[in-house]
Amino acid sequence: MLKKPRGTRDFLPDEMEQRRDIEGRMRETACRWGYREICTPEFEELELFTIRSGEGIIGEMYVFEDKGGRMMALRPELTAPVLRMYVNEGKTLPKPLRWHYFADCFRYERPQKGRYRQFWQFGVELIGVDSPLAEAEVILLAEESLSAAGISFSIHVGHLALMRSLLAGLPDEEQKRIRRFLDKKDFNGLYDHLVPAGKADLFNALTRLVSCRDLGEVFDITGDLPERKRIEELFMILDQSGIPYTLDPGIARGLDYYTGMVFEAFAGNLGAENQVLGGGTYRLAHLFGGEDTPSCGFAIGFDRVMVSRGEQAPPHRLVAGIAHTPEGREWALAVSRDFRAAGIRTELDLSGRSLGQQLSRIAKSADYALILGQRESMNRMVTIKDLRSGVQKELPLTDAVREVIGSEPR
Ligand code: HAM
Repeated sequence: MLKKPRGTRDFLPDEMEQRRDIEGRMRETACRWGYREICTPEFEELELFTIRSGEGIIGEMYVFEDKGGRMMALRPELTAPVLRMYVNEGKTLPKPLRWHYFADCFRYERPQKGRYRQFWQFGVELIGVDSPLAEAEVILLAEESLSAAGISFSIHVGHLALMRSLLAGLPDEEQKRIRRFLDKKDFNGLYDHLVPAGKADLFNALTRLVSCRDLGEVFDITGDLPERKRIEELFMILDQSGIPYTLDPGIARGLDYYTGMVFEAFAGNLGAENQVLGGGTYRLAHLFGGEDTPSCGFAIGFDRVMVSRGEQAPPHRLVAGIAHTPEGREWALAVSRDFRAAGIRTELDLSGRSLGQQLSRIAKSADYALILGQRESMNRMVTIKDLRSGVQKELPLTDAVREVIGSEPR
């Protein structure tokens, strides 16, 4: 038997209905904030993803050569594609641009619960504005999107200038390596990397910084920074907005394009893979041939949100099942047309078996059975049985539609 590729999943209808429900709530939230939907290709030229991060990330991607000999990659995320699209198509649009997306991404990772090779991101990018208020808007929208999904989570907000001030003077590669330890919260690794090399002071300052939760104390550790006023203003806006968040100078982010504010959200009930959102301020447009453009955004790991929600019943939609005899078939087709036009999920029996057999099949999955034989067809009537109460009536078609719609839960 052939199997699906490792790290991918199949979704049956019950699960898909739940996913669409939650996806819809996130989209609706983004649209209310003015973030309109965009779509980019599933694959891009490989260079789009290596130009900022280097060849190192090729190992984490699905890379292939197309028939024309071009190196391509399945997108591992959407920020780079969206900014490529902005440079190609959106430069002349009035700014700021507020865009959202819901799309699948591909990363060649070791699969486990909450970590897949194909996974979905819901994200937003706010392009062409550079202010603490813009950063706060993105954080507030992230909070509202996750709340709309009905999970419990905490948001951690940091700023890369804090960590960078301690790393200033070190070569770029060394800064990256240290940030990688911090991103993975691998303090043993960081110790082994820094202390034997005679950098115990740096190790101590970094560990003090990442555990600090008070902005005043943070600046005691880093000293005064050019970004100080801006950072203070961002946190003041967050405080004024009243959203719950944690100041976390330890947020380093795994991707290389961030320049300032960075933030992540964690679900309370997940294990190792509990990061449900990542985002921050970044600059990418100039690398893709555009002008240097400030941008800010986030992406929610949709599959982790669904794991955090746990198994839940899909939203219930009433179902009408239609049993019919050969003489009632034409009437059955007309009745199903009107029921569906009224928005009722309507399933016509296709088996041609006896009415009794049809009804027992319908009773397994429907809320109403409609019985359409010769008599109903001649009288233009519908025999309708509420399968939950057992009550059966014979009604004109419009009344039968009304009967079902009237019982739909609001
Ligand atoms: P990221 O942190 O790499 O950021 O990914 C965002 C979220 O996608 C993660 O927080 C996680 O929930 C989810 N995720 C990542 N990898 C996997 C996986 N293998 N399986 C399941 N879920 C996963 C970005 O991608 C940035 N583009 C976010 C951003 C947007 N920054 C600015 N704008």
